[in-house]
Amino acid sequence: MSRVSIVGTGYVGLVTGACLAELGHQVVCVDVNHERVATINAGRTSFHEPGLDDLVRSHAGSKLVATLDVTEAVSGSDFIFLAVGTPSDPSGAIDLTQVKSAAEKVGAALANSSQWHVVVIKSTVIPGSTVDQIIPILESASGKKAGIGFGVVVNPEFLTEGTALSDFMLPDRIVLGGSDEKSLQQVKGLYRAFDHVPFVLTNPGGAEMIKYASNTLLATLISFSNEIADIGSAIGGIDVAEVMEGVALSRYLTSEGERAPIASFIEAGCGFGGSCLPKDTAALLAEGARAGADANLLRAVLDVNRARPQRLVDLIRRHTPDLNGVTVAVLGLAFKPDTDDVRESPSLPVISLLLAAGAVVITHDPVVHSDSMPAELRTQVRHIEDLPEVIRVADILVIMTRWSEYLKVPELLAGLDSPPLVIDGRRMLTPDSVPRYDGIGLGSDQS
Ligand code: UGA
Repeated sequence: MSRVSIVGTGYVGLVTGACLAELGHQVVCVDVNHERVATINAGRTSFHEPGLDDLVRSHAGSKLVATLDVTEAVSGSDFIFLAVGTPSDPSGAIDLTQVKSAAEKVGAALANSSQWHVVVIKSTVIPGSTVDQIIPILESASGKKAGIGFGVVVNPEFLTEGTALSDFMLPDRIVLGGSDEKSLQQVKGLYRAFDHVPFVLTNPGGAEMIKYASNTLLATLISFSNEIADIGSAIGGIDVAEVMEGVALSRYLTSEGERAPIASFIEAGCGFGGSCLPKDTAALLAEGARAGADANLLRAVLDVNRARPQRLVDLIRRHTPDLNGVTVAVLGLAFKPDTDDVRESPSLPVISLLLAAGAVVITHDPVVHSDSMPAELRTQVRHIEDLPEVIRVADILVIMTRWSEYLKVPELLAGLDSPPLVIDGRRMLTPDSVPRYDGIGLGSDQS
């Protein structure tokens, strides 16, 4: 059993803290927000993640406690995790304000401790941040040298919203980038429950880059697939869904009849969103430019992605050139199914473009409520929670999120006198399942 502090109790911090408590460690969560601290101590969580409530409830007050006091938490801990937010600034670069402020406080607490502590960087920080910015702050605030007076290890998270607990408890790999061998081995020991999975031991920059390279690989595959869709459509008569099925069956992506999980990132559609892929791609591009490496590929990945909403609206206009007064239902606001997160969701720019074209916009989502939409959009659309009612009033249905509920669309359209046109932004329905259908990359553009 180790003693662990987690500074920052947002999504990543709380999942990490609750899972480390579940593994038997003694965890103290630290936050500047009184309400969050009180909520955790009361055995509750302030956001939705399957299973997290139960875990926090069962460990709160025993293996999991929360406090506002960094100094006390640090002095009683072997490991101090920094898990604060790293939002984007307007240029796409990440904003390290919260990380720097947390490092400052942790450093000051280290100054007053005579014990050895390891600071673990869990927040996603751009390669170079730990060595160039975080360690110098920790050193100057503590008056000690990293690797001698205290340890520093970068340990990126690979949590996906909706499956964060199983991602933590059943990891595919554990990446550790250390300032010194002793700290690396100690953090490895903290994760001894996962001895059966590969550990990647590297330096801080290498660990930071593994996180960015992992996410930008996924973003690149998605934009690649979207570009193949556009080229196929421009040539005419080439259906990207068939093409990608043929690609996925290669031995690189399918083995003994089993599809490799990476093949789920070659689905062309209306683009990637969420809090990770767009932000991480933009941040690595910005850092590359700052450091003198022009990341042409990453720039193109973002350009292709930014063009997806317009591309979808162009497809709608191929069928209905004048959208003025036409009722268009946007099916799906979440950036992906099984989450209520609308951050960077391609649905939002699609709604703006439809409104600008004069369409009457209806929105629907199985879990997202209209109040999660930015205020300027919310007031201009009608949100209807009942899917059959949406279908009754819409001239055009645009599928934006791959919610399983939308597989019911063909059934709901059956028997209607004048069924709406379905534009499938995720290619989740078969073209002949509804009377009037078109989809991204179907190749019908030239016909
Ligand atoms: C992503 C990574 O998948 C996780 O491995 C990583 O840990 C996480 O970021 C993180 O850095 O925290 P997430 O953003 O939750 O996870 O969602 P994804 O499942 O990667 O989907 C991202 C977007 O890509 C969604 O909008 C989805 O609709 C879109 N997408 C996905 C496509 O447009 N096409 C595809 O073929 C696959």
